[in-house]
Amino acid sequence: MKPLSLQRLAQFFFFAVAVAAASPGMAQDRTNGESIAKTWCAGCHVINGSPPQFGQTDAIPSFSAVAGMPSTTAISLRIFLSTPHARMPDYNLTQREIADVSAYILSLKR
Ligand code: HEC
Repeated sequence: MKPLSLQRLAQFFFFAVAVAAASPGMAQDRTNGESIAKTWCAGCHVINGSPPQFGQTDAIPSFSAVAGMPSTTAISLRIFLSTPHARMPDYNLTQREIADVSAYILSLKR
């Protein structure tokens, strides 16, 4: 895993501000979920049909594969993303970020 770069930190603060600026209680935002996925998740997961980037392996399910699992629901994603995982970094996503990124993942269901 690459160390957290300054650029990543800067991106994080950009998101924190962007998310804080968004009014609370808004419906989940798939577009925002997609940018979260691009920023935080694409280093390991294939988040759309695009070819894998550095570090992505077959052992890590693509987001469309995740969406296609029968067990995947908004609730299962919320639980997964709210709890730490051994092989996946803990991003401390806000509830709103979790809702957005979950909406994005679920939108990839075919
Ligand atoms: C450092 C690499 C890495 C990053 C970055 C990463 N993941 Fe993962 N993710 C994994 C691995 C590895 C697994 C498989 C976990 C396992 O099998 O225990 C996984 C599994 C998952 C699963 C569960 C799939 C299932 O089996 O139900 C979801 C959902 C998920 N990741 C979402 C995300 C989201 C959303 C982000 C961005 C916020 C993210 N991941 C960022 C490595 C990563």
